[in-house]
Amino acid sequence: MKKLAIVTGANKGLGLSVAQRLVHDNYKVILACRDKTKGQQAEKFLGENATFIELDLSDSISIDNFSNEISQSYSGVNVLYNNAGLIYQDFNLTEEGFESMIAVNYFGTYRLTLKLLDNLLENEGRIVQVSSLSMYLARKIQLENLHRKENFSSSTRYNLTNLYRSMFAYELEKRTSNKVSVAIAHPGITKSRQSRPYKVTNIRKSAFTYISTNINTGTEPILKAINSKHTSAKKTYAPSVFGIYGKPATKKLNKLVYKDDLREKLWSYTAEELGLDL
Ligand SMILES: NC(=O)c1ccc[n+]([C@@H]2O[C@H](COP(=O)([O-])OP(=O)(O)OC[C@H]3O[C@@H](n4cnc5c(N)ncnc54)[C@H](OP(=O)(O)O)[C@@H]3O)[C@@H](O)[C@H]2O)c1
Repeated sequence: MKKLAIVTGANKGLGLSVAQRLVHDNYKVILACRDKTKGQQAEKFLGENATFIELDLSDSISIDNFSNEISQSYSGVNVLYNNAGLIYQDFNLTEEGFESMIAVNYFGTYRLTLKLLDNLLENEGRIVQVSSLSMYLARKIQLENLHRKENFSSSTRYNLTNLYRSMFAYELEKRTSNKVSVAIAHPGITKSRQSRPYKVTNIRKSAFTYISTNINTGTEPILKAINSKHTSAKKTYAPSVFGIYGKPATKKLNKLVYKDDLREKLWSYTAEELGLDL
């Protein structure tokens, strides 16, 4: 029987690339995408072992509907790859009043993962959380005024969401006492960035263009996190050289991730904001 994987944001970039490799490796893949047309195009492109189901991570009702549909239609999810994300977005609030990068990259991921947890436990499933080199640039956690425009910087906020993605994965592994396996992976800096409409300064854009790798280099650490027999969210899979080039290796996380008190604080804050805990 085929294994079942869910890939969020699977209609382009790294999500599509990982979904394509999983289909090739004999998985049945759920393409969890917010845009129906793009999701259906990806489904057509990947063939009969890919199925699009609508999921908007900025909307808690959409996440709950998606999770219910998975629970009703499929028994046991083997892999949840939390890939979808917003990168360097201008300040925006979601309908629910959350800043959009925090909402999609972190809150949405937290909600989706907790909603699918029973399903993942059934099959000793694995959660793979994407993060980024930018997590190392985050210097502290911020829980106050997260949804206010004053002093908002899109790059600082993106860094923070990647720190939170890693802290979440680490803490989830701890809180589930290893009943479900959790892994973290980051792709380095891949060419998929160039297709994005996001506002980045010209200097930053040309620097990214110069150092970025092809999408396969970024896809490999994620596949390693999905396929390795033993994993742990205490480290991240990443390209081996400077976290950008070469074959995947495991690397330490931002040192803030290892601080129990900070992870616990973040978890309690999130559980309260979303009204959802384990
Ligand atoms: N590329 C890199 O160098 C790099 C480096 C480090 C980390 N990452 C991380 O890797 C992930 C994928 O990166 P990428 O380069 O492939 O980015 P991308 O090409 O911009 O793809 C992002 C995906 O997320 C989806 N998405 C955005 N908002 C969503 C929402 N509210 N609900 C559901 N899906 C949503 C997008 O859907 P639409 O097409 O509808 O917008 C798209 O499918 C991101 O989370 C990013 O933070 C990337």
